[in-house]
Amino acid sequence: MQDKKRIDELRLILNQHNINYYVYDNPTISDYEYDQLLKKLQNLEDKNPDCFSPDSPTQRVGGMPLTSFKTITHRLPMQSLANAMNDDEIIHFDKQIKKFLKLNDEISYIAEPKLDGLAVELVYENGSLVYGSTRGDGFIGEDITHNLKTIKSIPLVITDDNPPSLLEVRGEVFINKVDFKNLNEERTANNEPLFANPRNCAAGSLRQLDPKVTENRPLRIFCYAPGKIIGKQFISQIQFLNQLPKWGFPVNPYIEEGNGTSFLIDYYMRAESLRTKINYDIDGVVFKVNSYKYQSELGIRSKSPRWAIAGKLKAEQATTKIKNIIISVGRTGALTPVAQLEPVNIGGVIVSNATLHNQDEINRKDIRINDTVLVQRAGDVIPEVVKVILEKRVLKSNVFVIPDECPICFSKASKSKDEAVLRCHNLYCPAKLKGSLQHFVSKNCMNIDGLGIKIIELLIKNKLINNISDIFYLNQDNLSHLEGMGEKSANNIIKSIENSKTTSMAQFLFGLGIRHVGQNASKILEKNFKSNFDSLVKSTKEELVNIHEIGEVMADSIISYFSNQLNIEIINKCFLAGLKFSNVNEIRQSVITGKTFVFTGNLGDLKRSDAIKLIELYGAKKSSSISSKTDFLIAGEKSGSKLDKAKKLGVKILDAQEFMDLINSLK
Ligand code: IVH
Repeated sequence: MQDKKRIDELRLILNQHNINYYVYDNPTISDYEYDQLLKKLQNLEDKNPDCFSPDSPTQRVGGMPLTSFKTITHRLPMQSLANAMNDDEIIHFDKQIKKFLKLNDEISYIAEPKLDGLAVELVYENGSLVYGSTRGDGFIGEDITHNLKTIKSIPLVITDDNPPSLLEVRGEVFINKVDFKNLNEERTANNEPLFANPRNCAAGSLRQLDPKVTENRPLRIFCYAPGKIIGKQFISQIQFLNQLPKWGFPVNPYIEEGNGTSFLIDYYMRAESLRTKINYDIDGVVFKVNSYKYQSELGIRSKSPRWAIAGKLKAEQATTKIKNIIISVGRTGALTPVAQLEPVNIGGVIVSNATLHNQDEINRKDIRINDTVLVQRAGDVIPEVVKVILEKRVLKSNVFVIPDECPICFSKASKSKDEAVLRCHNLYCPAKLKGSLQHFVSKNCMNIDGLGIKIIELLIKNKLINNISDIFYLNQDNLSHLEGMGEKSANNIIKSIENSKTTSMAQFLFGLGIRHVGQNASKILEKNFKSNFDSLVKSTKEELVNIHEIGEVMADSIISYFSNQLNIEIINKCFLAGLKFSNVNEIRQSVITGKTFVFTGNLGDLKRSDAIKLIELYGAKKSSSISSKTDFLIAGEKSGSKLDKAKKLGVKILDAQEFMDLINSLK
């Protein structure tokens, strides 16, 4: 019985942490602490199979793969929206509504960003998620419950003591731009085909038969519309939107309420700059009549409701001509065909190159030099050719075939088995050097500010850099003599190289660009080898594959990389230049190493963030809640329930002064 109580308690705590993170964007515990709690719950549930619940936070982990999708008929159709392309059409929309409702007063509207993801419907019975589906054709969608459950921002149970017996909530599943970029970087490192844009990635991830795949995709949701609801009534969109977070559903923070056309036009105008500011793609705004009474009076046309309209933002596609196709060589030696375009303005950005990915893509789309093509730019992604406008094809054009020779060093390029791309295998190819240096200095690796591609090219041209370690041996003199480089910029770059020498093992490892070792894998290796680079270098294949997330292919790649003496020499030169890992190497061993601290109440002059830094310096960690695992509670003035709980559990309690005395005694 004790276990059952704890299971219920842990489920509540984990659900609340999810809401803090996804709904309020205000996490109160670290991912690590969350995972520990989840593990605890999983252990207890394993011991108590009678306590199984499909709503438990442990049930998010992907179950068995499906063989096909079932279909689900929506109780209420999921409609689409009519479009407004400009201010006039928005004004017309408002006019029609007033005419229809025979009203002279200004209408109350809700303005929402139009997310460029995938519409889904979530169905809750008596507060529990029973299934979720895609929009499909609006009437019948696919049952993707198994995948939706892996999305942590979707509540499995809603927070309500008296939930509606039926609640259908609709929303958009999407991937934000940073997560998308990281995912594609990871895929580059793993040699997997890249996703064209965040929307395709979200769509592909939701339509996986194996939920284990979906689980590893950083999907999110914002909810925006009701389906059928029994047991709770709403009178307006704003009332519904205000209720959603209370139930645990994330709602877009940029939704606004306002009156009349002046509000609509103002919001529409601001949407362009909102688009550049936010971290996910939107393709427009949605204006909805706020009152549900008016909405039902207005009703629907054949496909879209009269009470809503999508204000489209400037198209992010345009047609232009392919002047030439060149081959670019990346750090892995991959030969990527790139279309050189007649420059075209796409959504405010001038585009003159578009990736053609590989030969298979060229063949599939039958892309040729001189073709007129539709080009698309999605967020931060490299522009790509969507399709050829065949009617405009010049008569005598040839099929394009990527030559099997590296255009930079002229060595023979070849495909390895089961790969779609041709690669240059010359170890000393300057294009590969440029790519690997660019990767090494990038934000997620050594994060060296100011060392852009132009400077890297000059450094290579002037034979100042032959490999990554040479970066650490550059001096002010080398740099300031480069074309167009001033004293000050040279000085800033040297400073930033110096700063980069203190980094984490994961960043350095990712920077090395070992095939198949992406950012995530680098973090896993850092954790498993406790930032001890030497032990990673000496590790055996068996040790590597014993790490849960490391497979055979990655293990082989790591072993092969470190068995190359040249690589070892380059790495040693980095360490000789002063490279060091800050996170683990610098932990000062002491009596508090490995202990857990909780801080509560007002600590006076002692800033909480400073206190946390201090304990981390000694290898202790901070937690947000008191449990039997807490070693110290640092309690300031107005400490509430945490103090009581700590007393009950016999946790050692210190005030701010005693805490500082303890820290000072460690030195
Ligand atoms: S309301 C009839 N609100 O746009 C009401 N839709 O073209 C339709 N969408 O299938 C849904 N953001 O995928 C609504 N804030 C938002 C939206 C939104 C994106 C998508 C949704 C829908 C499509 C309609």
